[in-house]
Amino acid sequence: MSPKLPGKASLRTALTAVVNPMPFYKVNQRLYPDIFSSSLLWFSAYVIHNPFFMKHVLQENHKNYEKGGKYGFIRFLLGNGLLTNNGDDWLKHRRIIQPSFHQKSMGYAWEVMLMETQTLIKSFGDRMVIDLNTEMAILTVNIVGKSFFGMDTQDRVRKLRQELENCQKHGHSLLRMPINYPEWILDIPIFKKLDKALKNVHATIDSFIEERNANMGIKNDLLELLMELKYEDTNEKMSFKQIRDEVLTLIVAGHETTTLALAWTFFELSKNKHVQDACRDELTSIVRDAQDLTYEKLNKLTYLTCVIHESLRMYPPAYLFARTAINEDYLGDYYVPAGKNVVINLYGLHRHPEFWSNPHEFMPERFEKFDYSGINKFKFMPFGAGPRGCLGVHFAMTEMKIILCSFLLKYRIELADQSPIYPKPLFTLNPNKHICIRLKNLA
Ligand code: HEM
Repeated sequence: MSPKLPGKASLRTALTAVVNPMPFYKVNQRLYPDIFSSSLLWFSAYVIHNPFFMKHVLQENHKNYEKGGKYGFIRFLLGNGLLTNNGDDWLKHRRIIQPSFHQKSMGYAWEVMLMETQTLIKSFGDRMVIDLNTEMAILTVNIVGKSFFGMDTQDRVRKLRQELENCQKHGHSLLRMPINYPEWILDIPIFKKLDKALKNVHATIDSFIEERNANMGIKNDLLELLMELKYEDTNEKMSFKQIRDEVLTLIVAGHETTTLALAWTFFELSKNKHVQDACRDELTSIVRDAQDLTYEKLNKLTYLTCVIHESLRMYPPAYLFARTAINEDYLGDYYVPAGKNVVINLYGLHRHPEFWSNPHEFMPERFEKFDYSGINKFKFMPFGAGPRGCLGVHFAMTEMKIILCSFLLKYRIELADQSPIYPKPLFTLNPNKHICIRLKNLA
């Protein structure tokens, strides 16, 4: 008997995905709720929505699924840091970096989160309308840069953020072409602006590393750890390029997603006044002001956690990710040939009508009774799952709670502009335009 193969998306729908992947995934998910196959030019993939298939790829047989061609543009931009690396080299580096993200190592990060948020709020002065995408990006890049790499030069960090945005802007056309790009592509005139932005990003990161090289032993942070360590197997130091790749990866992964998660959460809080009020009621019953926040108190904010989870369900910043099968395999009865790409459509999974009632409605209460164990871990996974799940999940959740609490304790918030806002996927799940909110002093 010949192996079972998934239903195939039409070429017409596949072509539309180059411009906007959302309608493509929506139409085909409706036709093929568990899995479908899609081919366009040299890229061919299975797109999955079935949690058991997710579990198989991300956990049970994860060693057979590496980060392949789909990561072409990200690898091109970020080099070979934790997000894009594979195999033993990835594991070696994950083991080195992971302890810096344990709760007991996060005391300094906690202080940075509180302090940077208060500094931002003070900087608003009488300005009552703020652009969340811009303000949250600067805030979160400052937090991650300062917490792990001692980047406390505001101007340079701002410039870094600007150049990273330029990379997205000028590299946009390469984004959906799932190939590994050769370095010479930057010599093509239309990519000159991308080349310049990328060189500026590298130069800024390099300047931080070089400065630290001249001042070792002052800060006991992740940058110092990377610069000092010697690999157990070779007794050699980490190369300059590898340090840069790891730093750049953590800066990008550590602020781009959190910025969007915050912008979308503020957006829903502004639209749903009763949810905003319920969050504030919970908050004021537990803390007096932002300085009164502790880990224990933050953990008691269960409704706020539901609000963040509901926002991450509806607008998962990393809305798609992928793997490539090393050897042939099966997903249920479906045959997966070696080399096949498997796309995890997180946006589709999080709005799958079989798993979520009223999937397009913002209903934080649904998480009050949600069982996060067993197969449900693969129905709701904004931070990915399995050994390659997000390294920064606790960091991000703590950071988002501190920022949301600081705003909710001081302001009532509403949308400053009533024109429609909807997801517009780029590298991450952006809104179609920047989200602006109006702040109203509470007292
Ligand atoms: C709301 C915020 C965030 C979201 C939604 C998010 C989401 C994700 C997802 C879905 C993955 C898995 C990708 C895959 O399997 O291909 C991932 C991986 C990763 N994330 Fe996050 N992330 C967030 C915040 C952060 C932060 C704050 C950091 C670090 C400061 C971070 C660092 C990383 C790293 C290093 C990886 C790669 C892990 C590995 O492969 O070993 N993320 N993230």
